[in-house]
Amino acid sequence: MSIRRCEILLLEPREEVVFQLQDLLSGGNGMVRTLQWVALAPHLDAPVVVSAHQREILGTLSPSQWVEPGDSIATVEEIAALIDCGLVLESVAVGPGRDHQLREQRLRESYWHPLGAILHAFTRWDNVDAVKNTEDSGTVTATSMREVLGPPPLMTVPAAEEHSFSLPDSEQNAFDSLLLRRATCRNFDDSRPLTTDLFSRMLRRVFAAQAQVKVSDDLVFFKKNSPSGGGLHPMEAYLMIQQVEGITPGLYRYLADSHRLLPLPTPDQGLRDFIMESVGQQHWFANAHCLVAMVPRFDRTFWKYRRHAKGYRVVTLEAGHLSQTLYLSATDLGLGAFVTGAINEKHLERGFGLDPIQQGALAVCGFGWRSTRMLTAELDPLEQVWERAD
Ligand SMILES: Cc1cc2nc3c(=O)[nH]c(=O)nc-3n(C[C@H](O)[C@H](O)[C@H](O)COP(=O)(O)O)c2cc1C
Repeated sequence: MSIRRCEILLLEPREEVVFQLQDLLSGGNGMVRTLQWVALAPHLDAPVVVSAHQREILGTLSPSQWVEPGDSIATVEEIAALIDCGLVLESVAVGPGRDHQLREQRLRESYWHPLGAILHAFTRWDNVDAVKNTEDSGTVTATSMREVLGPPPLMTVPAAEEHSFSLPDSEQNAFDSLLLRRATCRNFDDSRPLTTDLFSRMLRRVFAAQAQVKVSDDLVFFKKNSPSGGGLHPMEAYLMIQQVEGITPGLYRYLADSHRLLPLPTPDQGLRDFIMESVGQQHWFANAHCLVAMVPRFDRTFWKYRRHAKGYRVVTLEAGHLSQTLYLSATDLGLGAFVTGAINEKHLERGFGLDPIQQGALAVCGFGWRSTRMLTAELDPLEQVWERAD
């Protein structure tokens, strides 16, 4: 059996601060600090705490060349411990080691840039209640945010006025007024279903391939209504449908090339709870008629942009383009729309059966009928959507 270390690995010196009453009672300030080395390896589900000695051993092992364990500076026991936690891999693995080895192999073959892979893997949430976190931090309203956080950096950085010049005002057209009517909807009307026609139009506008350009049997480019880095369109739409005429509520995958829906297994916890958990308990989004997890197939973009420093950034930027197309399409059809980044990615991965190495949820957006009553605040200072109550 030979060994090597995993390819993508970041060793972070991390300080953990925890409150301990005992420390307070014995004259301290109650905050106990622990310094430790943490190994971030994206093929593993969680960070691994390592000792300074293990950190040194990892630094002596090649990620690309298999060596005999006897050739390393470490003892058999030390190597065994690193194999157990998945940071060192065996050429012939069995049991949990086999799983680590396969995941690490898939990661290599997906051509992630190391920093992109680490950022993505370790910023995914599981079971986070974003609403409670905001409440606990005392930053629910704009006024409390100002009190707790102090003033933000200025919106417009002061510039030397004498060098600036004004630009002409142009006449507003229908597109300008469409843009003005776009507002994040946090009040959906779940008393009536969305028509199949509106639902289908939304998906066609935002996620469908409008045309296909076939280079060879195995290389096809899509033309969509939003731009995509390298024209590769890695983003797939995974739907949580609640109220659409003629469609059974549940989870679906949208097939962009044929404008069809593929039903997926219904989550055990029930659709509503599944959605609440998906959007970090943000109840103001949870009754949208249709919610869409934007799920890129990273390996598609990284097929061209191999270990590219911009690869991950490009894919995340695309989620923004698609969400704006969704907002404008919905506004044009008289519907409300939203996007949220406060999502529980790991929960979505489990629910939709995604491979977190090659796919991953980046944001959830949604659309549906707007309510006539505003229960949760929206930003509409120009009163394009809501009439002032007074
Ligand atoms: C990437 C992104 C993430 C967002 N995440 C949330 C969110 O988690 N919860 C929420 O209520 N709104 C979210 N929003 C909506 C913003 O709060 C909203 O765009 C902002 O307040 C401006 O309002 P407007 O969209 O109506 O102009 C998000 C918007 C963007 C672009």
